[in-house]
Order: sequence, then C-alpha cells, then structure tokens
Amino acid sequence: MKELLIRGQRPYKMLIQPGLLPQAGKYISKTLGGSRAFVLTDSTVAALPSMALSTLCQSLSDEGYEVSPFQIPAGESSKNPSTYLQVVSEMADQGLQPTDILVALGGGMAGDLGGFAAATYMRGIRCVQIPTTFLAAVDSSVGGKTAIDLPQGKNLIGAFWEPSLVLCDPELLLSLPREVFMDGCAETIKYGILKEPEIIRLLRHALEKMSEGPGEAGDSGAVTELLSQVISKAVTTKEFYVHGDVTDKGKRGFLNLGHLLGHAIEAWSQFSLSHGQSVAMGMVLEARGCAGLGLTSAHTANEIHDLIQSFGFAVDPPCTVQDILPYLVHDKRIRNNTIGLIVAETPGSCHMEPYPADQLEEFAKLGFGEQ
Ligand code: GLY
Repeated sequence: MKELLIRGQRPYKMLIQPGLLPQAGKYISKTLGGSRAFVLTDSTVAALPSMALSTLCQSLSDEGYEVSPFQIPAGESSKNPSTYLQVVSEMADQGLQPTDILVALGGGMAGDLGGFAAATYMRGIRCVQIPTTFLAAVDSSVGGKTAIDLPQGKNLIGAFWEPSLVLCDPELLLSLPREVFMDGCAETIKYGILKEPEIIRLLRHALEKMSEGPGEAGDSGAVTELLSQVISKAVTTKEFYVHGDVTDKGKRGFLNLGHLLGHAIEAWSQFSLSHGQSVAMGMVLEARGCAGLGLTSAHTANEIHDLIQSFGFAVDPPCTVQDILPYLVHDKRIRNNTIGLIVAETPGSCHMEPYPADQLEEFAKLGFGEQ
C-alpha cells in the first residue's frame, strides 16, 4: 500500500493499492466515521465489468453505512447547474447530515461535480474521491479544485474543497479505453517535464507492459504495480506545487504547463480534442514559443516535441493562432495584464516568467511557427 500525505489547507491521505476498492468502506470508516454515505457516480462507471459501484456500496454497508448511490449520465455535459441541483436535492431527500460523507466514484466529471456538491451542501460536508480514470488518479482527485460549467465556459462556478481521503485502486484503470487512458498520460508527462523525469520512464514502461495485452496471470499485477508507482510519483509532484498554494495564487500555476495554448485549442475544438491531447500539444507549442522568445533553448523545445510525439500524441496544431485568440485572451490566469509563462529549461526543470497578456498573440505565433 502506498500512503501519501497531502499537505493542503488541512492534511489528508491518498491510499494507492491494486485491489483497494473492496476495502474502501473499511478505510473510509476508520478515517472519517459518519453513518451515511452518498455515492455519486456516472453511467460509465455503473456499467463497468469490474462492478465498481456495487463493490464500493457493499464495502460501505459492511461497515455499517447507510448507502445512497446516485448515478448521473457520463460526460462533461453533466457538469451543469441543473444536474448539480439534482444531486444536492437528492442529498437533502436522503437526509444527509453535516457529519455524513459524499463519495465521488468516477473520473474528472464525477469528482468535480461531487466535490462541488460536498463543498456547498449544508456549507460543506466531507468528501472521498475514488478515481476511476488515469487522469483523475494523477490530477483531479487531489488538490481540491471542484466546479461545474456554465454555457459561458468550463468550471465557472466552483470552490476549493479538498477531499478528506483519496482512495486509488489501479485495477480500475486496466479496462479503460486506450484514448481515455492517454488523457492521463499527458498530465503525467507534464509532471516529468516540470520536475521528475523518472515519471516519464516509468510511464513508458507501464504502457509497454499494458500493450503486451492479456497474458500470464502475473501480468496485470506487474502493470498495476507500475501504475501505482507512476500515480504515487505524479501525485507527489502535484502535491509539491499545491502545498502552500491550494487557492492557486502562486506556485500551483506551474501545473498549467501546456494548458495556456492547450486549453485554447481544446475550447476552439469545442472539446472534440480531449484535454490530454490538447495539453500534450500545448506543451510542445509553448516550449517552441518560449524558445522563440529566447527563454529556453531550441534544443529543449525539440526534446519536448520528440518526447510528446514518442507517446503517440499529435504535435501539429489543427487550427491557426487567429482561431484560438478569443479563448487565449480570456485565460483565467491573466492578472493585471500579466500571465506567468511556464518555461521548461530542460525536461525536469522549469521556471515561471511574467509575460504581458497583450502579447500572447505573438507568443502563440512563435509556438505555432507562424512567424
Ligand atoms: N489541474 C491543475 C490543478 O489542480 O491546479
């Protein structure tokens, strides 16, 4: 069992172990107590062959919890005010009290919406995050960013509400479709470029083992062990940046490497490009932009290009700078007409450089090779 201590506004643990899900109730009860557990999940998770939802509910009732499972349709479109109201109304109908617990079982959508419901129901109840996607395991389940979307944009209503416990069972990740798994790879590579290149080597090894396909009985054990190591190192790196800056006013901004141009491309594509594909491309374009500004070397920009491409991600933008400009200038991190560019000096070492927001078009043009 890997046990990480996440030092947020108050400390909480992330436990990582293959086969952890059937014991989830035990760990939740031991850590948090309470008598009622509201389990929020989505239709994809509820249909998983691993029976994740029923396994979790059973383990909670075995510990004496009164369990209320609640399922919402899968997909980002569920992260809306009306679904949110359905969730909190159901929590009220079930009589959830401030000492009770919301358990979010799912990927980023269930985690973000569930976290926001926990943050706001009765001014805040405790939340347990159980990620079922690689992206949620290495990123969104930890750090306390919770939100729902508005027609005007993603994550426009939200709160910082850290989970009280995160339980990660890498066995749940084995049946993910390849493209869903790859979304988490982009964020994991990001941690490698920011600070810990070793993560990239481990991730490559895990992917190689996964692509060997089903084999002898021990194979999936080797994969889940590698995934446990990758997730543990990735979250430890995320924790380094979140510690002391939960509310994202300073060093947490490093986690936006690749997101400045990546988010703009993702929004331009109307989310037909996944977050992972967009961030992967964003890391390449931003490195090239930084090289164009003389903030990093062309050698580093090429290294990042080759690294991202070697994982099978597309690196050439499917749009022009003019296409993404409306999204770029509304980046949420712009303050006083300045944005912090995350500059990779080498893979494994980055710094933040203040940059005038009114020159973002120029930066993007350097990245896209339009100048
Ligand atoms: N996903 C970036 C952050 O948690 O700040």
